[in-house]
Amino acid sequence: MKTSIVVFSLALASHAAAHGYVYSINADNTVYPGWDVYIDQYMQPKPARIAFGGGGPNPIFNVDGKELACNFNPTAPGAIAEVRAGSDITFHWSRWLYSHKGPITAWLAPYEGDVAKVDVNKLEFFKITEDTVDDKGVWANVRMMDDKNMTWTATIPADIKPGTYVLRHEVSSGTAIDPTP
Ligand SMILES: *[C@@H]1O[C@H](CO)[C@@H](O)[C@H](O)[C@H]1NC(C)=O
Repeated sequence: MKTSIVVFSLALASHAAAHGYVYSINADNTVYPGWDVYIDQYMQPKPARIAFGGGGPNPIFNVDGKELACNFNPTAPGAIAEVRAGSDITFHWSRWLYSHKGPITAWLAPYEGDVAKVDVNKLEFFKITEDTVDDKGVWANVRMMDDKNMTWTATIPADIKPGTYVLRHEVSSGTAIDPTP
């Protein structure tokens, strides 16, 4: 059997709807630092991350705001990751809170040309995976804390078209979301 390897490029837009950020990304078995919201903005020259920069560790509350796409004042990634269709992307979160239960999702949006010119608010994202409650009523981000060492993994669809994409990863919570008795 022949395996064809389709390479495409990923830039990451992470968004936290509660406190925490992605500090490390394993994309198809290569580990990249994420955008460190505490340090990277002060570095000169700006570090070339595969993640969009800007933002901070704080929640985004306004679901109608432009910042929902990629946090506040996103800066373009200085690097891109090449991954194969069907490969895994693991996000390592800095921390999370048990009071912030909710789903975790990953989305892709194709883009053309230079990633530095991408307007994240104009991209058309499609969801590739979502993790909500399991059959015991435990939310995805609680399992991330308890069972997965603060990591969460998305698999790139095996049948995705080769090309350049922005991957968006969200961890969300709502005070109204608490399935525990
Ligand atoms: C959990 O993640 C930390 C930080 O990346 C790492 O140092 C540690 O080895 C991991 N622990 C396990 C059990 O994988």
